[in-house]
Amino acid sequence: MALDILKIVNISKKFDKIEAVSNLNISVREGEIYGFLGPNGAGKTTTLRICTGLLQPDEGFVEINGEKAALDKVEFRKAMAYIPDRPYLYEKLTGWEYLNFVSEIRGTKNWEEKAEYYFEFFELKESIHRLIEGFSHGMKQKLVIISSILHDPKLLLIDEPMVGLDPKSSRKVRELFKRLSSDGVALVLSTHSLDVAEELSHRIGIINRGKLVAEGTMAELIEQSKTSNKDLESVFLKLTEEGDEVNEKLL
Ligand SMILES: Nc1ncnc2c1ncn2[C@@H]1O[C@H](COP(=O)(O)OP(=O)(O)OP(=O)(O)O)[C@@H](O)[C@H]1O
Ligand SMILES: [Mg+2]
Repeated sequence: MALDILKIVNISKKFDKIEAVSNLNISVREGEIYGFLGPNGAGKTTTLRICTGLLQPDEGFVEINGEKAALDKVEFRKAMAYIPDRPYLYEKLTGWEYLNFVSEIRGTKNWEEKAEYYFEFFELKESIHRLIEGFSHGMKQKLVIISSILHDPKLLLIDEPMVGLDPKSSRKVRELFKRLSSDGVALVLSTHSLDVAEELSHRIGIINRGKLVAEGTMAELIEQSKTSNKDLESVFLKLTEEGDEVNEKLL
C-alpha cells in the first residue's frame, strides 16, 4: 500500500468575502500524478500556496510526508518543491549560480552532476554560465524545474508547467514527470492543458469555486459526469458548468 505523501485536510481560505478554497480534502500517494484542474479563479494556486506553507489556511491543515506545512521546518522544506506559475528568478545570477544558491539554501549536497545531466537533458548546456536575464521564458521555466528536483523531493507541486514551452521541451518535461513518478515522487499538476492532464494523471481532481466537484480516474470521472462524450474536455465542462448552474439558481 503506497503512502500518502500529501494530505490536504479540510482546508478553507477566504480573501475578504471570496471563499477561494472551501473545505478541501485531497490525498496524493507516493508515485502518483494528481491532475488538479479547474476554471480560472477556482482556487488551484491558492491551494498549492497553502501546501507550500507560503499561505496559511483559515481552517484545516496540510501534511507532507507526515510533516505539517511550515516553512521554518527544514524537513518540511526538503520534502517538497513548488514550481509556481510565475517563478521569481534572480536575473543577475547565471543559471549555474542560481542552482548553487538554491542548493545552499536547502543544504543539498552533490547536486552538480545531476544539474549537468539536466542541463543536457533540456538542451540548455551552452546557457549554464549565462545570466538569467538573457534567458527566454521557456529557458527560465526549465531552470526552475531543474532547481526543484536537485534535492530529491518526495512531492512536486507544479502550477502550469507547460505554458510557453515548445513541443519538444513540453515532451521532455512530460517524460521527466513520468520518470519522477515511477521513482516514487508524488506530483500535483495544476493545469489548463487537459490533454497533458489526461496523458499524465493517475487521478484527477476538479475544483470549482473553491470546492472539489469531482475526483477519480478518467473512467470514474466519465461515470460521475454522466456525459455521453468520453473525453476530458466534455467531462470537465459538464462538471464545472453544473456547479455554475447551481450557483446561478442560488443568486
Ligand atoms: N492574494 C489574494 N488576494 C485576494 N484575492 C485572492 C488572492 N489570491 C487569490 N485570490 C482570489 O481567490 C480566488 C482563487 O484564486 P486562485 O489564484 O487560487 O485561482 P486559480 O484556480 O489558480 O486560477 P487560474 O486558473 O486563473 O490560475 C480568486 O477569486 C482570486 O481572485
Ligand atoms: Mg492559478
